[in-house]
Amino acid sequence: DTNPQAGFHEETSFLSDLPKTEWKLMANTTLLHWKGFWLMPAIIKSAIAIEKQFNPLPSDILLASFPKTGTTWLKALATTILSHNSNPKSDSQTDQLQTQNPHELIPYLGMELFGENPSRDINQIPSPRVFNTHLPYSILPESVKKSGCRIIYISRNPADTFVSSWHFYSKRFGTKIPLEEAFDEFCNGIIVGGPFVDHVLEYWRERGKENVLFITYEELKEDPNKHVRRIAEFMGCSLSGDEIEQVVWKCSFERLSKLDVNKDEERVHWSGSKFNSFFRRGVVGDGKKLLSPEMMERIENLAKQRWEGSGLEL
Ligand code: A3P
Repeated sequence: DTNPQAGFHEETSFLSDLPKTEWKLMANTTLLHWKGFWLMPAIIKSAIAIEKQFNPLPSDILLASFPKTGTTWLKALATTILSHNSNPKSDSQTDQLQTQNPHELIPYLGMELFGENPSRDINQIPSPRVFNTHLPYSILPESVKKSGCRIIYISRNPADTFVSSWHFYSKRFGTKIPLEEAFDEFCNGIIVGGPFVDHVLEYWRERGKENVLFITYEELKEDPNKHVRRIAEFMGCSLSGDEIEQVVWKCSFERLSKLDVNKDEERVHWSGSKFNSFFRRGVVGDGKKLLSPEMMERIENLAKQRWEGSGLEL
């Protein structure tokens, strides 16, 4: 067969047999249940393409996360840490974040590189290659796990993650469902990459490995210097205290959300989302503000039950 896409379609014919549901918050997008998680068909296809075509290098760095837990922040941090490591004198003027959104600087190891119509060429990614993924650990290709490449996972409080998703997806897709309904979906695991609590738990279980770093949005907020240093060391970059402070400032919500590049209504991510939609409030505790005490109790009990005995806490 001369059509390179033919295999792509044949291998994914099983998708039509998977359990499916509609994700209301994303305007009734179809999600399929595959290997324990709810994913869009295009994501499953690209996971299969990654498995077949991606050649991971031990020097690769994978930023892993559930959507809305701090991916943009982590991308900014990784970029800035690497730039200080190669040029300790780098100042705000030479900062790539000044003119580019973090998502432009670090590609998504998914449809952006391995989709039916990839918008970026993997061969153009400079070394050390840094990617992000939203795939659950169990769905990451074996080749990635065997390569020994570094994986940094960022997690976030479940209620805050839900509230961030609620704002992001309802704005992006113009969905007008009640908050309670969207919350019910989230608690039932119906969201891309869901169930959230399982996604986090899988990476948490890997945290003892030398090549896996597990951090939380809350600890980064609480003591950015300490945790940015952890990230830098894990990435093999030794930065001075002064440089760490600069990285923290350059990547802060206060700075990034005010830059023209990130306020521009015209600039969009490959997925169609405006870059400005990745900056909303950037605080800890928004969940508690929007959700009722009953809703908070439900989501906290859900996490506690699922994480029981794992050492993972709220
Ligand atoms: P909120 O909606 O709670 O404000 P992701 O990058 O994974 O899509 O996550 C988006 C969330 O991270 C949003 O949370 C967004 O405001 C917040 N965020 C983006 N950049 C940030 C930064 N530099 N520092 C802290 N939070 C940031």
